[in-house]
Amino acid sequence: MTDMSNHPRPAGELVLSLRGISKSFGAVSALTDIDLDVHAGEVVALVGDNGAGKSTLVKTLAGVHQPTSGTITFCGETVTMTDPSAALNLGIATVFQDLALCENLDVVANIFLGRELKPLQLDETAMEVRSWKLLNELSARIPSVRIPIASLSGGQRQTVAIARSLLLEPKLILLDEPTAALGVAQTAEVLNLIERVRDRGLGVIMISHNMEDVRAVADRIVVLRLGRNNGVFTPDASNQELVGAITGAADNSVSRRAGRRQTQHDITEGGQA
Ligand SMILES: Nc1ncnc2c1ncn2[C@@H]1O[C@H](COP(=O)(O)OP(=O)(O)OP(=O)(O)O)[C@@H](O)[C@H]1O
Ligand SMILES: [Mg+2]
Repeated sequence: MTDMSNHPRPAGELVLSLRGISKSFGAVSALTDIDLDVHAGEVVALVGDNGAGKSTLVKTLAGVHQPTSGTITFCGETVTMTDPSAALNLGIATVFQDLALCENLDVVANIFLGRELKPLQLDETAMEVRSWKLLNELSARIPSVRIPIASLSGGQRQTVAIARSLLLEPKLILLDEPTAALGVAQTAEVLNLIERVRDRGLGVIMISHNMEDVRAVADRIVVLRLGRNNGVFTPDASNQELVGAITGAADNSVSRRAGRRQTQHDITEGGQA
């Protein structure tokens, strides 16, 4: 397990700080005593096996669930988010895994869905200009903002969903599995996009099951296991360390196998097993 204090602190200020967050659904403890920090201009990857509590944590930060106990500090203030609009108004934007885009509407309509500049009398030109500006800032490759979402690729849809989440100028953005189901080129494009969002000074929390994607963009890797913190790593952590933390090293054949390889390697190198 990597000790956070041994690593240089990210330059940006603390945007989000969770202390002792727990969440139960009846008898099920989905989260127990979670601590998490995110700084401005930092990508934190949230990893863990199925059921580890990743989505529950993101939904708690998005105002979908209320924690059973613990404190959430956002930009220096202790906050309570009673619903998703409360989180949005504070500056926490979420791109859920299903993206929640409208297939039959065009890119502009999706970016402004529910936030039209002038409800009743839509200012189409202003919305189109703003959409292009957002997409250009992200160097997004969208052929036209007037084509329906249905005709876009998976990567382009993810791009529109991320652009949409930036409309209200959040300080923190939560991405639940942004590269799941994307091809190699589209994954690279979305990872570039995440870096550009970070370079704008936002804090980013990204959930992923793909360690390659995680290593490519994350500044820190936070592992959850069975609803608890199970280590914080830098992207140079070995696969063995990460898999061990994700699965619980002692009782898992995947990490035992990885461990055996490492031991053999250490013996050949003359190191300690
Ligand atoms: N609304 C709910 N009611 C009851 N139990 C829930 C609810 N939401 C989540 N859980 C439980 O909480 C635990 C954590 O689930 P969660 O969806 O957060 O995991 P996850 O890490 O996102 O997993 P995955 O990688 O499969 O998406 C699971 O045991 C799940 O069954
Ligand atoms: Mg999930």
